[in-house]
Amino acid sequence: MRTIVALTCSILISAAPAVSQKLAANPPMGWNSWNHFAEHVTDEDVRSAADMLVSTGMRDAGYIYVNVDDTWQGQRDAQGVLHPNERFADMKALGDYIHSKGLKFGIYSSPGAKTCGGYAGSLGHEAQDAKMYAEWGVDFLKYDLCSFQSNMNKEKADHPDDPNAARNLMIAAYKKMGDALKATGRPILYSLCQYGVDQPWKWGPSVGAQMWRTTDDIDDSYGRMVTIGFSQAGLSKYAGPGHWNDPDMLEVGNGKMSEDEYKTHMSLWVLLAAPLLAGNDLSKMSDIDKSILMSKEAIAIDQDPLGKQGDRLYQSGDLDVWTKPLSNGRVAVGLFNRSWDNRDVSVDLADIGFKSGANLRDIWKQKDLGLHTGVFTDTLPKHGVTLLIVSK
Ligand code: GLA
Repeated sequence: MRTIVALTCSILISAAPAVSQKLAANPPMGWNSWNHFAEHVTDEDVRSAADMLVSTGMRDAGYIYVNVDDTWQGQRDAQGVLHPNERFADMKALGDYIHSKGLKFGIYSSPGAKTCGGYAGSLGHEAQDAKMYAEWGVDFLKYDLCSFQSNMNKEKADHPDDPNAARNLMIAAYKKMGDALKATGRPILYSLCQYGVDQPWKWGPSVGAQMWRTTDDIDDSYGRMVTIGFSQAGLSKYAGPGHWNDPDMLEVGNGKMSEDEYKTHMSLWVLLAAPLLAGNDLSKMSDIDKSILMSKEAIAIDQDPLGKQGDRLYQSGDLDVWTKPLSNGRVAVGLFNRSWDNRDVSVDLADIGFKSGANLRDIWKQKDLGLHTGVFTDTLPKHGVTLLIVSK
C-alpha cells in the first residue's frame, strides 16, 4: 500500500505562547539518568555525566540538559519541604556544578502522591516544590503521571456519567504544576510524561508544557524502539517550535542494538523532530555510539529551524519511507528496512516535490550521491536505514 503525504500542505497549530518558544524553539537535547542508571543514580553519577557531556563533545553537539530522573527524593519535613535522599547531598550545589559546565539542570516529579519508583511525588505540594526547584536552579521538569492514575480511577468511579472526568482531573493536575512553574518567574522547561494517554499533543500547550511523551516507555531493544518510532505517524501537525511530541529518550549506546538498529533509532527520532535525550553511560561510549549521537548532520535535521516534524510517506510491509521538510526547500528522507533480509527501498523524488530531479546526500555515509531524477533506490541490510537530505 502506498500513502502519499502532501508535504506542501501547511501544518498549523495554535501559536504556542512566547515563553514556550523561548524555552524550546528547537527540540530539547540533553542526557537523562533513567535509561542507564535507573533507581541507582547518585549525585556523583550526575556530576560525572556533566563532565563527560563536556569531554566527549556531546555538550557542544547540543546535548545541554542534564536531567536527574526518578529516585532522587527523600522525605518531606514538618513544613512539607521535600529533601533529597542520601544519594544526593545538596541539589542546589549539584545545579551549580551543572551550570558551571555550561549545562542546564533537569529534575523529575509526579502529580501523584508517589512517583513510579515509589518516591515522594508533588501532590498537594506543587507550588512549594516548584519554588524549591527554582531556588535550586532547575531548568527542566519531567512530570510523570505514575500514581496519579489511581486518583483518576477514583474520579472515574465517582463520576460514572462523565466520560471526561478522569481526563479533566489529569489535565488540571498538569496545569497546576505548569502554573506553579510559571509563578516562580524562572524559565523551567515543562515536560509531560503520561505515556500519550488522552492525546497530550492536543492539550499539552494549554497546561504550559513544551513537550509531552506520546508513548509508553522505550527499552533497549529494536522491537520496542521501532514499535514506538513508527507509531508516530500522523502526529506531525501537533509539533512545532515551543511544543514537541516526545517518543521517549534515546537508547543509543546502551548496548543491546546493532549499529544499523541504533542508526535507525537516531534517524527516526531526528525525522520526528523528537527531543534528543541520550540515556547511555557516557563513560563507555564506543566510536560508533559517538558517531551516531554526535552526527552533526543528523542533529541538524532534528534541530532544523523550520521546526516541522516528519511523517510517513509510504509503507509497504516491512519497508517504510519517512520525510521531514527542512529549511531552504530541502527535505530529509529516511528509507527503512525493518525486515530480516537485505531489501531494496525506494523513494520517488517527484512525490516529495522534486519532479525535475534533486541532489542527494547520504548522512550516515557522509557522502554526496549527486543528481538523481525519478525513483531513487538503495539496498539496505536487515534493520538498516538510509538517511538522505534532498535538495534542488
Ligand atoms: C516512568 C517513565 C520513565 C521513567 C520512570 C521512572 O516509567 O516513563 O521514563 O521516568 O517512570 O520511575
